Amino acid sequence: MKSHSFQNGDPFPTIGLGTWKAAPGEVGNAIFAAIKAGYRHFDCAPVYGNEKEIGRAFAAAFSDGLVKRSEIHITSKLWCDAHQQEHVLPALRKTLADLQLDYLDLFLIHWPVALTHGTLFPESRADFLTISEAPLTETWQAMESCHAQGLCRHIGVSNFSPARLTALSKFATRPPEVNQVECHPFLNQSRLLTTCHDLGVILTCYSPLGSGKEKSSSTDIFQNETIKKIATARSATPAQITLAWEIARGTVTIPKSTNPARLAENLAAADLNLSPLEIASIDSLDQNHRFIDGSIWTEDGSPYSLDWLWEGDAIE
Ligand code: A2P
Repeated sequence: MKSHSFQNGDPFPTIGLGTWKAAPGEVGNAIFAAIKAGYRHFDCAPVYGNEKEIGRAFAAAFSDGLVKRSEIHITSKLWCDAHQQEHVLPALRKTLADLQLDYLDLFLIHWPVALTHGTLFPESRADFLTISEAPLTETWQAMESCHAQGLCRHIGVSNFSPARLTALSKFATRPPEVNQVECHPFLNQSRLLTTCHDLGVILTCYSPLGSGKEKSSSTDIFQNETIKKIATARSATPAQITLAWEIARGTVTIPKSTNPARLAENLAAADLNLSPLEIASIDSLDQNHRFIDGSIWTEDGSPYSLDWLWEGDAIE
């Protein structure tokens, strides 16, 4: 299993299993199948609504001796309704209880956007908190305190723009080690990747295969001619070529699947080494196309805008 390294040398396996949209009733079996297939990195979040089932699967895998806790990396995230300092530690404790764990390997701020406590998704202006009502500087201090208490080994962020990541890194006592963002051949994030590189932050790709969303032919990664051609030449699948390109760019990637054959197929992508020419031809496919465009955060009288989200630098 290929791995990146955190600053203290802890491994961060290059391919992890995404669990967003992994349905309750299916996700536990997928975790088991993934561990058996060799996955050692699992990406979770309370908002996915499946952490209890995932926790039961981890507990069974540990007690069956399938794998040891110390051998796997587990990420989870802080939901937007818990950004205020007093809510951060309780939110982490709830996730740990649901996942049946003593610690997370990585704890991320899921979005830079804040909601009132108890709100899952905003329905009106009253459900939002502004950045001055819930400053990310204060959220980050609480994240640092969770780390200091040993409840998470590493801390980071998700959906942070280059400017916001830079601002938080400058402010932090313990800077973020990861920024998890949407990244695939149609949204190659080259500017953010440069910022991450300069700051020593690892970029993790979510929706690395295009999120399984209904697509037009121009945004269907698996139907792209360049990717299909490389796949044929390499006797690989378009999904494997896509993941191999992400790995070649120095990112970590977390494809979601609940299908045992596709789980194994995706993990095997780590063994494909693309040539510089193949990498460059996939680099040229960028369309700045977001499957997750962030518009859920900008409706219903929200104080946030898409420009604030994807280009802004505000942390307080
Ligand atoms: P499934 O869970 O049935 O395998 P992303 O990781 O970008 O969010 O994409 C996940 C979507 O891609 C899911 O619909 C998943 O379906 C599908 N998927 C995952 N791996 C593959 C693969 N190797 N080939 C085709 N589709 C895949």
